[in-house]
Amino acid sequence: MTKVGFLGLGLYLPSRRMTNFDLEKIVETSDEWIRTRTGIVERRIAANNERTSDLAIKAAQEALKDSKISADKIDLIIVATISPDSSFPSMACKVQKAIGAKKAAAFDVSAACSGYLYAMTTAKQFIQTGMATNALVVAADRITNLIDWKDRNTCVLFGDGAGACVLGKVKSGGITADFLQAFGDQGDLMHVVAEEPHSPLHPHKDTAQKSPYVVMHGQELFKMAVNSMGDAVEAVLKKAKLKVSDVDCIVPHQANDRIISAVANKLKFPKDKIFINIDKYGNMSAASIAVALYEAVKSGRIKKGDNVVLVAFGAGLVSGANVVKW
Ligand code: ACO
Repeated sequence: MTKVGFLGLGLYLPSRRMTNFDLEKIVETSDEWIRTRTGIVERRIAANNERTSDLAIKAAQEALKDSKISADKIDLIIVATISPDSSFPSMACKVQKAIGAKKAAAFDVSAACSGYLYAMTTAKQFIQTGMATNALVVAADRITNLIDWKDRNTCVLFGDGAGACVLGKVKSGGITADFLQAFGDQGDLMHVVAEEPHSPLHPHKDTAQKSPYVVMHGQELFKMAVNSMGDAVEAVLKKAKLKVSDVDCIVPHQANDRIISAVANKLKFPKDKIFINIDKYGNMSAASIAVALYEAVKSGRIKKGDNVVLVAFGAGLVSGANVVKW
């Protein structure tokens, strides 16, 4: 079986920082509440003229440069996002245009905070079946567009950003196991309702109980996140024929530091071997794991030969995990 691994990594973070103290001026909250309940200290907010595709393109350009593979050698582009700046063209087609990858197929994946792992796992299958040679996978969300800035239950949690990787054939190691799961019957726990079209065909618009913003049931999601991420790690390690004690680093979705602690307890895995950057960025949806993986690798926290587990949970509900021999 063809081995598929990471040839390059990229990220893009908007320069505007919003601290918990800034949020205190907008909603009834406090730095102390946000820090102790979530671990978040600050998050990045995209500029007015920065759309999701702009974030995606910048992360993609860095990943390409890092991989030393030219755009004409990229034959697949997948962008994971739940906040595209247009229904169509897809964000992946916008990335293709910007980088000039004329030979690539391009499409988006919608799997919320698990999007990077869904996109990566899909790209891996394309490479293993010979449909693609070099795939550019991007995770980008300008999720703060979907937030009601009057709702303190949600607005303190999220931030904008993007991460990317180039995947291709490797001689050894690479992505050695994958696990994806969905719990569609619990989708109402976190959702955004799409706006209905203004049209003479729909004169009696039903506007009751609809909000274009994130609706979230935090406590139920918390429990689902802990259970499904713990289960996903166990399932993917079983596929990789590894034990939890063989793992050098876990890079989880960054939704809440207390969720990460609970997952570590459930797995009996030392928390200091889990990469955490939620304090700097909050929950960046699909981009969280992509940015965390970038920082873990570039800071030397993940080294060649390490067994790494990526694990995600998000709205849908959807979960996923991958084992990577770095
Ligand atoms: N500032 C101050 N007080 C607040 C805030 C705030 N920002 N938000 C809520 N509160 C209050 C509540 O109103 C409540 O007050 P009450 O007791 O008087 O009613 C109190 O704090 C406790 O609220 P809880 O909801 O019980 O707080 P909890 O400890 O559960 O933390 C949180 C809430 C942070 C949302 C947590 O439940 C959580 O992280 N859940 C998971 C959310 C998640 O993972 N979402 C994303 C998953 S999918 C994806 O990533 C796309």
